Amino acid sequence: MTDLKRVLGEAVETAFAAIGAPPELGRVTPSDRPDLADFQSNGALAAAKRLGKNPREIAAAVADRLAGDPRLAGIEIAGPGFINLKIADATLADRANEIAADLRLGAGSVAVPRRVIVDYGGPNVAKPMHVGHLRASIIGESIKRLYRFRGDEVIGDAHFGDWGYQMGLLIGAVMDEVPAIRALVDDGNASGAAPADLSPLDAVTLSDLDRFYPEAAATGKADTEYRDRARKITMGLQSKQPGYYALWERFRAVTQVALERDFHALGIDFDWWKGESDVEHLIAPMVAELDAKGLLVDDQGARIIRVVQQGDKRELPPLLVVSSEGSAMYGTTDLATILDRQQAFDPHLVIYCVDQRQADHFEIVFRAAYQAGYSQDGQLEHIGFGTMNGTDGKPFKTREGGVLKLNDLIEMTRSKARERLTEAGLGENMAPAEFEDIAGKVAVAALKFADLQNFRGTSYVFDLDRFTSFEGKTGPYLLYQAVRVKSLLRRAAAEGFGQGVIIISEPAERDLVLTLDAFDSALTEAYDKKAPHALAEHAYRLSQAFSKFYAACPMLSAEPAIRSSRLTLAATTLSQLELTLDLLGISVPERM
Ligand code: ARG
Repeated sequence: MTDLKRVLGEAVETAFAAIGAPPELGRVTPSDRPDLADFQSNGALAAAKRLGKNPREIAAAVADRLAGDPRLAGIEIAGPGFINLKIADATLADRANEIAADLRLGAGSVAVPRRVIVDYGGPNVAKPMHVGHLRASIIGESIKRLYRFRGDEVIGDAHFGDWGYQMGLLIGAVMDEVPAIRALVDDGNASGAAPADLSPLDAVTLSDLDRFYPEAAATGKADTEYRDRARKITMGLQSKQPGYYALWERFRAVTQVALERDFHALGIDFDWWKGESDVEHLIAPMVAELDAKGLLVDDQGARIIRVVQQGDKRELPPLLVVSSEGSAMYGTTDLATILDRQQAFDPHLVIYCVDQRQADHFEIVFRAAYQAGYSQDGQLEHIGFGTMNGTDGKPFKTREGGVLKLNDLIEMTRSKARERLTEAGLGENMAPAEFEDIAGKVAVAALKFADLQNFRGTSYVFDLDRFTSFEGKTGPYLLYQAVRVKSLLRRAAAEGFGQGVIIISEPAERDLVLTLDAFDSALTEAYDKKAPHALAEHAYRLSQAFSKFYAACPMLSAEPAIRSSRLTLAATTLSQLELTLDLLGISVPERM
């Protein structure tokens, strides 16, 4: 099952070879001028240079070779030597029927499946999630789904941030605020055993943490004594002092419940909820081993790994493995996590979907891992992304200037989605529960599509009005299109109209089939570049091609053979659109 671009490409490559030109120059691409041709090959220009001939002559010789190929309805030479190809209707129809009958809707899969871990989301205990986490979640989820669909075995891991300095800050802050908890924690630490009665800890809620953390973080910055205490507590936690540990477990539990709720609302699910703390047991032996390998260097009481390499344009700082207070750092848990993942899953590839601003961090960790022989070059890959900005061009903040909480963002988008639905007269006469479900789906589509339609490296401006519009290149527009096809198919079914073999006569049908055929190219590009925007683009093109087809080609009123052909085309378009959206993490309601 091969897409037309590749099938034609092979034919053109063979023709190039036959006239003594390098075959790879025969590559075809979709035509720049769809009004004139379906595909084009520009290779005659390069071939002419290599062979010292006139490009139009080369193009003519290639065209001669292709003449008579029944799959082609037209071969033309344009301009300086472009070869324009038009596919025969029958060949297009064959391909359309093939896609319609294919459970994968024309998508190929990887030849050799790999084991892949996608490290994404990266939420932290206590620290509120910011827009960087939102983007990591949206992009990472899509990459996980895409890789899985292509046939790889994929694990998505949240890599919960639960073992760093912020834990020490927070433990200190709660102990200051709640005397009963302080007594319990102190008792536990002193006696060396977990407190027998943990019930006072139940009083700690997420909103307490939300409240205490920003203050504690600010005090820690200004007040060195306060900071030193937080560091000491962090050390105590990392050496598992029972009082600290019990309180920390409570923090972790309340945070995770809330996070799972927020992620769930966004259609994001992790296979592993592992955290930094899960590799705690690997750290001491790892440090000993790194030391034995001669990789650790003492640096003012801390222990580091130097990672500078020849040819570096600027000097990368070393990996801080053990701080001067003796605690494990962010990079230490990352290094140990590489070991943990190897033991648990032995991945061929780990994709870290994290804010571009952490590019150096990952470069440092990866180099250390390669030096230590924990991973092989190329097995670890950081895919960074730009930020979601406010209109001021800086990372998006709330009106009060604080970090935007994920939950608030979801709520805000949902309420806008409700407004939009009502404005458009959609969702009328609907039970409140269904209306809510639809508003949720519109909100998720709005946020995710706005994010994924850009190449991930690009930053974009948060514009809720635009994102939630049912017009333009937006998630809600795509949902609306998909729902329209669903209702068309329901009407046809109610009339007793069945689907049948696809036949092609109208230009809008040709365009639609060519777009359906381009699915595998979009998938391949998204997969190879780890860039879901290629899929977002495909979803948009597909709904545009469908719109034109819908306007130009009557369906229910057409004669039976045409009607059943067009219904199959509509159903196939819907399936491919829903699949593409699903790979972006967007789900389509039944109606709206
Ligand atoms: N928790 C981190 C943060 O908030 C992100 C974690 C990314 N993944 C990783 N393996 N370091 O910045």
